[in-house]
Amino acid sequence: MSQHSPHPTTAVPRRAVVTGAAGFIGSHLAHTLVQAGAVVVGVDRRDPATDRTAAANLAALQGVPGYMHVTADLLNCAIEPLLVDADVIFHLAGIPGVRPSWGPQFGEYVTCNVLATHRVMGASTRIGVPRLVVASSSSVYGPTDGGASVETDRPQPASPYAVTKLAEEQLCLAHAAQAHCPTAVVALRYFTVYGPRQRSDMFTHRAIQAALTGQPLRLYGDGHQRRDFTYIDDAVTATIAAATTPSAQGVINVGGGSNASLLEVIHIANSLVGRDIQVHQQNPRTGDVLTTRANPGRAREVLGWQPQVDLHSGMRAHMQALTAEPAAYGRVA
Ligand code: NAD
Ligand code: UGA
Repeated sequence: MSQHSPHPTTAVPRRAVVTGAAGFIGSHLAHTLVQAGAVVVGVDRRDPATDRTAAANLAALQGVPGYMHVTADLLNCAIEPLLVDADVIFHLAGIPGVRPSWGPQFGEYVTCNVLATHRVMGASTRIGVPRLVVASSSSVYGPTDGGASVETDRPQPASPYAVTKLAEEQLCLAHAAQAHCPTAVVALRYFTVYGPRQRSDMFTHRAIQAALTGQPLRLYGDGHQRRDFTYIDDAVTATIAAATTPSAQGVINVGGGSNASLLEVIHIANSLVGRDIQVHQQNPRTGDVLTTRANPGRAREVLGWQPQVDLHSGMRAHMQALTAEPAAYGRVA
């Protein structure tokens, strides 16, 4: 768990399935749900017996009553048996990461983000699961004029990854719109989530790691790009609220905690550790947008959710977790 506690939630589902449970967001979500009394089935294709990141992410859940882990690939496993009696599916499994999606791995983005999601929605419909919360992405908005993105804005995805995330959320919503579909869908557009156990390809993790180790940090572009950095506990709280708010449906932004540039992230990392990161500047990467900024109105109105953790406190908790967990700290960026 992270150093902060997620905000007290009024309710948690009785029984939940978390796909992508061996990942960054999924493992935090599963842990919070189980701690609050839910029974959770976690599904992930990464096997904690052989995958160090999966093992580190799942360590706090090992042997915890109420948590059952299943190693399976949603592209070919039998999904229905996993869903029996579930109140909600949290569908977080997928291939994340903007920049690699231009490369040969794109096929995996399509199969895991789109085809696997189609299988999950089909199984949910057949079993009659009442609700599915799917992880969408701020990247579906594409380039903006720097203003806040509202859910009704026309999406303009600027990377292959973002195209698959838009397809994923719209696919779930198309299933839900079918007559007699028993599954209500909420698609959460997460904005750059950070905190303990963040994926090692992501910028905040790399900046903190560079500050701690003295290794150089690769900076793509001039560092003026801005993100609505969202702390993991805030993201988890919003995700649970999406499952437990009966009126919640459709697309909702989950972001707005701290809008900051990469240079500000570097500055905070420097100040937390007390030395200056060596920055190696490289060309900007294709498909990276200059600014993401969430309009948080719908999340506030529908979910009663507002982010609580500012970037400095969140990065401090992230750094403390890295230094306290040598296994995670050892992950090389
Ligand atoms: P992550 O890579 O840590 O977790 C994703 C997990 O999904 C992995 O453990 C992976 O093994 C699993 N998975 C992928 N394909 C699978 C399949 N076919 N069957 C079973 N498991 C499969 O990523 P994360 O950062 O925790 O992101 C979780 C979700 O949230 C992703 O869908 C991502 O696109 C989305 N998202 C993340 C962020 C962020 O800032 N981290 C922001 C927006 C959206
Ligand atoms: C993040 C997640 O990685 C995606 O999975 C997610 O879908 C997306 O947020 C989202 O909000 O929807 P991104 O905003 O690109 O994507 O976050 P980072 O991967 O942390 O990158 C942030 C910025 O740092 C980018 O401009 C990137 O080019 C830059 N960066 C990243 C570097 O300069 N150096 C690095 O080593 C890594």
